[in-house]
This record gives sequence, C-alpha cells and structure tokens, in this order.
Amino acid sequence: MEAKVAPSLLSADFGNLARDVEIVNNSLADYIHVDIMDGVFVPNISIGFPVMSAIKKAARKPLDVHLMISNPDAYIDRFCEAGADILTVHYEACTHLHRTIEHIKCFGKKVGVAINPHTPVEVLTDIIADIDLVLIMTVNPGFGGQSFIEHSYNKLNRLREMIEKQGANVMVEVDGGVSLKNAAKLVEHGVDILVAGNSVFGCVNSTEAIENLKKLNDGAK
Ligand code: DX5
Ligand code: ZN
Repeated sequence: MEAKVAPSLLSADFGNLARDVEIVNNSLADYIHVDIMDGVFVPNISIGFPVMSAIKKAARKPLDVHLMISNPDAYIDRFCEAGADILTVHYEACTHLHRTIEHIKCFGKKVGVAINPHTPVEVLTDIIADIDLVLIMTVNPGFGGQSFIEHSYNKLNRLREMIEKQGANVMVEVDGGVSLKNAAKLVEHGVDILVAGNSVFGCVNSTEAIENLKKLNDGAK
C-alpha cells in the first residue's frame, strides 16, 4: 500500500525556499502543497502571488494550492495564472460554491473543496460529483505543527460511504498533524493524499521522511 504525498511548504525554510522546493523535486513526493492565508479566513498570513510564482518556477511537481482566504472568487484567475495545478477553496468561504468550482474548471485546473474540522462531510453531498478532490482539514487551518484531530476518522468513514454511494471519482486529501504515526491508518480510512508539513521539514532528512510517508513505512516510526 502506498500513499500520495504532498509536502507543505508552510514548514519549509523560507530563507532557503528554492533549496527546499528542490528537495521535494528530487523526492518521491507527488505534489507540492502551497498554503495561502489571508489573515481574515484564518488568523495567519502566509504568502502571496510573487512567492507563489517563484515556487512555480522552481517546482517540477504539480502545485496543490490550498486557499485559506475569504472571497476566493476574486483571486481565482490570478492563482490559476500563477501556476496552480490543483486549486482548493474552502466550503466555508464560498457562498456560491458551484459557481466557484465552474470558474476554476474554466482554467483547465483540478478543483478541490476543503472543509474545516467542524463542518460535516454531508455538506458535500450535492457537489462531490463535480470536483476532483476533497480536502479534510484534520486541524483547524492557519498553522503548521498542530495536533491531529482524532474525530477525523469518523468523517473519513462517512466521506468514503458518500463517494461509494455516488460512484464519485474524487481524491481524498487530509491536511494537519499527519505523520508516520497516523499515515497508514489514514490510508486505511480511504485517504489518497497525505499533506505533511512539520513531519517532513521538521526532520533532518526530509527526503527520507517523504519516502517513509509514501511507503507508509511503519518500521521508521
Ligand atoms: C494548516 C495548513 C497545512 C499545514 C500542515 O492550516 O493548511 O497545510 O502546513 O502542517 P502540519 O503537517 O505541520 O500539520
Ligand atoms: Zn494546507
């Protein structure tokens, strides 16, 4: 059993961002996870367009861009132009989610919808057939290095049931507190993509950390 891995640059060394992107380029990672925070939707501010464009230039893996911003509709064009390959918006930030999804699709990008820990997966019932990815937040968004919320397994079970019932062709991603301690269990619960910040860039050997997550290498716990 293998997982797809998306290292989150939020925990990278921003003074050596090109070096850390290159580490991911040369690893077994499947995507590069880019967290965009506006200080409104979440109580933190991360990076904007110039930095994202610089990441795109350096990246040789697809960019998995996670928008933690209010009013994402106003910026979708620019994030697509800046090089997002998957663009994920938060359910909680979109009044007209279907319209937002269609807008992203116009650019030929893959579309993801993220839900916060308090948001039931059932809100996605009437949209899941239209999207490429569901991102289950397994911490409250805003910061790296937080503890995984155990109730998330229950949400993943219910999400899997919904996906099977509808025969939806959608990837399931989890974000927050992911490490070798829970990676295998998450994949058993139907997760396709593991986002990992601290458990990758907090390690002396990030390449090895990515490989262990990818292979769900329990021996390395
Ligand atoms: C948090 C971000 C995450 C963050 C995860 O709001 O969406 O992508 O980088 O960090 P870890 O893996 O350290 O919990
Ligand atoms: Zn994220």
